[in-house]
Amino acid sequence: MAGAGISTDAGIPDFRSPGTGLYDNLQKFNLPHPEAIFSIDYFRRNPKPFYVLAKELYPGQYVPTQSHFFVKLLEQKGLLLRHYTQNIDCLERTAGIDPELIVEAHGSFHTAHCIGRKCRQEYSQAWVKEHIFRDEIPRCSSCDSLVKPDITFFGEGLPSRFFELLVEDFARCDLLIVMGTSLLVQPFASIIDHVGPHVPRLLINRMRVGESKAPGAGFDFDGRFGKSLHRDAFVAGDSDEACALFAGHLGWLDELVELRASHIAKQGLDLAK
Ligand code: APR
Repeated sequence: MAGAGISTDAGIPDFRSPGTGLYDNLQKFNLPHPEAIFSIDYFRRNPKPFYVLAKELYPGQYVPTQSHFFVKLLEQKGLLLRHYTQNIDCLERTAGIDPELIVEAHGSFHTAHCIGRKCRQEYSQAWVKEHIFRDEIPRCSSCDSLVKPDITFFGEGLPSRFFELLVEDFARCDLLIVMGTSLLVQPFASIIDHVGPHVPRLLINRMRVGESKAPGAGFDFDGRFGKSLHRDAFVAGDSDEACALFAGHLGWLDELVELRASHIAKQGLDLAK
């Protein structure tokens, strides 16, 4: 399970880190509150802030991090059951993780639809991108309603794929790794409790998050609710460093470094980024 924290080292701000998080840097849009930029009701009234931000954050300008490639390595080792991400930056796809093994719980820029209630015409990512980079608000050619990338806005339901795969995946999961998320947004945050009661859970995050207030509801890093339930571990710090540490312990560090270096070489990107 992942959140914006696995992409900050790629240069994409997360949402809630004090000072650097996106929600601390939206003053120029004069929003009623920061999350309005991803609210469907606000978007219907004023789509401009979202599209200005979309241009700044548009996928394709960023290189996947060591954390993305650690997930890719788990896939290559046949250990990745599924990667549930809240991120819309498509960096998991860019890192080459099999899309069948990715659940983009908050959607992504990968597809787009007209939001006209009777229309819902689909539009390609390329068509929307062209409008975004021409500073034009994309509108449906059939009904002139707004066109929005298939990102889950506040006030919208999550993609059906999330619910279709969740039950079986979390029943089969034998180790849950959670990286770079504040675990503040539902229903994504609560699925950490969907794994079996004795499945080990590892949080890799700059801050302790998702802690339980009652047995069986959230992480219990200190075994407060009984030794038998003590299956949660917390690694404080950057996910890239933690992934490199784990790869080192597993004897996979060279493969991890090589994965990212060859991606960068293939893209002809400047390694210094
Ligand atoms: N390594 C580890 N943790 C990190 C790193 C990093 N390099 N960078 C940031 N973090 C941590 C932050 O300390 C924070 O706890 O990652 C977490 C990011 O939390 P948020 O900014 O809230 O992002 P996220 O959890 O993905 O937000 C969830 O909120 O607004 C909605 O839809 C949006 O998907 C998003 C959802």
